[in-house]
Amino acid sequence: MSDTGTLARRVMSKMDDLGVRVLERLEELYAIGGGPGANRVGGSEGEQRAHDLAAAWMREAGLEVEVDVGGNLIGRSGRARVWTGSHLDSVPRGGKFDGALGVVVGIEAAERAGAGAVVAFRDEERGCAGSQAFVELGALPDYFLELHVEQGPVLEREGAPLGVVTAIAAMARGERVFEGEAGHAGTTPMDARRDAMCAAAEYILQVRDAAAAIDGAVATVGRVSVEPDAVNVIPGRVSVTVDARAPDRARLDALLKALGLDRPATLEPAQMAEEPRAALAAEVERLGLPLVELASGAGHDAGVLAAAGVRCGMLFVRSLNGGISHSPDELTSPEDIQLAVKALTGAISRLSPSVREER
Ligand code: HGY
Ligand code: MN
Ligand code: MN
Repeated sequence: MSDTGTLARRVMSKMDDLGVRVLERLEELYAIGGGPGANRVGGSEGEQRAHDLAAAWMREAGLEVEVDVGGNLIGRSGRARVWTGSHLDSVPRGGKFDGALGVVVGIEAAERAGAGAVVAFRDEERGCAGSQAFVELGALPDYFLELHVEQGPVLEREGAPLGVVTAIAAMARGERVFEGEAGHAGTTPMDARRDAMCAAAEYILQVRDAAAAIDGAVATVGRVSVEPDAVNVIPGRVSVTVDARAPDRARLDALLKALGLDRPATLEPAQMAEEPRAALAAEVERLGLPLVELASGAGHDAGVLAAAGVRCGMLFVRSLNGGISHSPDELTSPEDIQLAVKALTGAISRLSPSVREER
């Protein structure tokens, strides 16, 4: 697997100072927490450090900086009606680009366009707390454009540096608890056990098989908690988290039913709006790039804003290394990042009132 360092050194010499500044800022964010990977979990010091850096970069770009009651960082130039941005928190040992790319490039694009506002939403990875608070505050922008790495293999397979998102998958997160009976690992006969871990293990395989049986659905058990969590004690209680997703609500409901999950926290599927999609597509074509339109399996703050009625668009940048993400191996090339800056800048301009009125 190639790494960003080699790519960046090879390319930085050819990039203009804008591209170099974006890469340098991504490196600065990635270094927070000392590795391996990005370690800026929501609510942590690392996330706050990232917000402090981004606030300084927003001021350098001439934006007025504020923090809303949800803890979201906002940089704006006047009464901006086109917003862009993403999140600066990460999963533990996350990638260099997830979230951070949308904020860093958003600042560059707003500065280049001389319009727009940039937002870093709080705590996206654990459930979009920041963007949920933002929409409840009610002061919503006319348009929200989120730039994000694809976190999948489609653009790499298609040979396309950029992609325009059509919709964001429906998703649900829940928990299942298995009660057994804690007991001595050495003296309890196998036919006398009520082993909660074995019950959980059978369920985890059911999760895999239920998702595989529904076209486009995915489901993941990402965390298992065991009590009393001792090597020589039969587990008495095991809880597992479930992350379930599907392209539409009907398939998500079918999956949740199969998983025996009731009342999970769900996010509706979010359709991207026609105008922002068209502006992004026009920019991709202006740059002479192939136009690939694709759905997002990952959740995003844009999904929360779209559900609140904001006209949203998402621009994906190609993920390399087979699209791996939520991993230190997450990789996107400097060349593609430069194209993304140009496309996002152009789309902000296209949607900004002053430019639109002249057209
Ligand atoms: O989990 C997701 O889809 C996103 O990375 N928060
Ligand atoms: Mn993300
Ligand atoms: Mn993520």
